[in-house]
Amino acid sequence: MSDKEHRYSDTLWRLYQRPAPPQPWVDGGNLPWNEPAFAQRMLKEHLDQSHGAASRVAAERELQIDWLRDKLEVTVGDQMLDMTCGPGLYAVEFARQGCQVTGVDFSPSAIAYARDFAERQGVSASCSFLEQDVRTATFAPAWYDASLFLYGQLAVFRREEASALLQEIAKALKPGARLVIELLNQERVDKGHSSWWFTDDKGLWGDRPFLHLGERTWLAEEKIAVEEFTIIDLETADSIEINLSDQTYAAPEMEQMLRAAGFSAVDVYEQWDGLPLYDASEWIVYVAWK
Ligand SMILES: C[S@@+](CC[C@H](N)C(=O)[O-])C[C@H]1O[C@@H](n2cnc3c(N)ncnc32)[C@H](O)[C@@H]1O
Repeated sequence: MSDKEHRYSDTLWRLYQRPAPPQPWVDGGNLPWNEPAFAQRMLKEHLDQSHGAASRVAAERELQIDWLRDKLEVTVGDQMLDMTCGPGLYAVEFARQGCQVTGVDFSPSAIAYARDFAERQGVSASCSFLEQDVRTATFAPAWYDASLFLYGQLAVFRREEASALLQEIAKALKPGARLVIELLNQERVDKGHSSWWFTDDKGLWGDRPFLHLGERTWLAEEKIAVEEFTIIDLETADSIEINLSDQTYAAPEMEQMLRAAGFSAVDVYEQWDGLPLYDASEWIVYVAWK
């Protein structure tokens, strides 16, 4: 067999011998958001207005921002912390509306875009974008008036990490300040098992011919969805394997975690409180008060 045939064969045997059920959080349990080439390709998805898979499209974001401003009661001069801010699409708008915003994200391309976007919008003096893993970021105590944690990213962390993060955010907020967290509604999460494949030569998974193999498993006891992807470069036979784990929470459990982290009250909004977002029915939004 040639080297290339060996590589194909190794990949397929590894796939055949994969643990079943899968182990969550193997190899990080997240997409490689902070890997430079992937981050660059992902940035295109964030900005693509034909879908809302990475960031919601502009028209939906505007509705969300109005809702968030109302629920967070932010006013001019308020300090806002945007956890996993991506390319700053929310942060820069809040800065345009008079907030001082700190955005944290570990994607180099997203942070570079956010800084440039703030500059282009004339609000770079009101924005600070940190390229950092939110799990290791620390903040000045009792400094912020409001915080965002949007599009389900708290769920990609293990329960202990999520609790520690909530505590860190609570510490960073002033008394009376609020945090908005958006998480998938556990009741509506797909609890089936599925597998799929497709080929392409462009997009998120690469810019050469590749085969993408995917499998989704619901771990009923732990309430975790695990997606496993194998992407095989058909020119080189190199492959990458990605394990994407999503911890889901029942609403009472999340409320309890928020209180344990230091929040005194929690409001729960199903389906984005009726906002007409394309996937609103899949989400619960928590507004937690320090
Ligand atoms: C679905 S995107 C949402 C981005 C943004 N909140 C929005 O809605 O436009 C998730 C973001 O989380 C970031 N992210 C994931 N895990 C992270 C971590 N451990 N530390 C910092 N950022 C992280 C990714 O880089 C990505 O920009």
